[in-house]
Amino acid sequence: MQTPPICNYEGSDYQDVFWEQGGRAYEDGAEAVALQRLLPPRGKLLLELGAGAGRNTPRYQNYERIVLLDYSRTQLERAQQILGSDDRYIYVTADIYRLPFVNGLFDGATMIRTLHHMAEPRLALEQVRRVLLKNACFILEFANKRNLKSILRYILGRQYWNPFSPDPVEFAPLNFDFHPGTLRAWLRQTDFVVERQLTVSHLRMGFFKRILPLNFMIWFDSMAQLTGDLWQLSPSVFVRSHASGNAIQPAAPGAFFRCPACGADLQDTPPQLVCTACGQTYPVENGIYDFRLQS
Ligand SMILES: C[S@@+](CC[C@H](N)C(=O)[O-])C[C@H]1O[C@@H](n2cnc3c(N)ncnc32)[C@H](O)[C@@H]1O
Repeated sequence: MQTPPICNYEGSDYQDVFWEQGGRAYEDGAEAVALQRLLPPRGKLLLELGAGAGRNTPRYQNYERIVLLDYSRTQLERAQQILGSDDRYIYVTADIYRLPFVNGLFDGATMIRTLHHMAEPRLALEQVRRVLLKNACFILEFANKRNLKSILRYILGRQYWNPFSPDPVEFAPLNFDFHPGTLRAWLRQTDFVVERQLTVSHLRMGFFKRILPLNFMIWFDSMAQLTGDLWQLSPSVFVRSHASGNAIQPAAPGAFFRCPACGADLQDTPPQLVCTACGQTYPVENGIYDFRLQS
């Protein structure tokens, strides 16, 4: 099966340069507020899709266990350094388009700052739905093309693409902004029911960061987030939905991994998992399961 291209973060210094040295304390703080509002009070097993270096993972303490999934091994190694050893964390390198888990496994999932790398977002959402139990909570962040700045730039003739058109815009290779209406339609089509939307990062501009204190910016954003169900004009939107439909059965007790190549169930046998159906092997090295397939 051919899958869409992957935005590869292998060897990237994303966590250190973009977040820690990049002057993004405001965005990070605003996202923390949004997650706190949207996360359920407790849960058993959470799938963090595109976990990167685990920036958000400590915010998911209400879950008993967390699977950090990312295509990049170096991002997960950075996460291991930052989070330290903890039996509650399971590290998995895999492609979101080929999730290596049995159906109906997780009772929660988050996908923050990751969908914007998906050339086929609907396919990715189908995969997420497949591995969730019915009624599982799914918190999705997406980059909003219909934000105030892009609307103004379009009106002033400084941006060629139309922020109101429903199609995604690829503003850089494998970097997409989405229309909120299109995103909600994809969620409905893939058996998710939208419960709540929060608009996030309203003040994401160098000008505001220069003149306003950080705490005020985060407080202002936390208030403005509450308009998210009425309109979405911020560059980032958080959507909480739950999995619906009866097509996916709960995972059998003890079942966890499945072969991303052929779909057969896999026994969890580190240091190597072997698919008895197709013969593919998957190594587990330094605590990271590797389910990436060579194309
Ligand atoms: C912008 S980073 C966000 C990391 C983290 N969620 C955060 O907010 O700090 C996007 C992450 O998505 C991962 N990613 C992109 N495409 C992927 C795919 N097809 N499968 C798995 N991970 C993917 C990248 O490796 C990268 O770590």
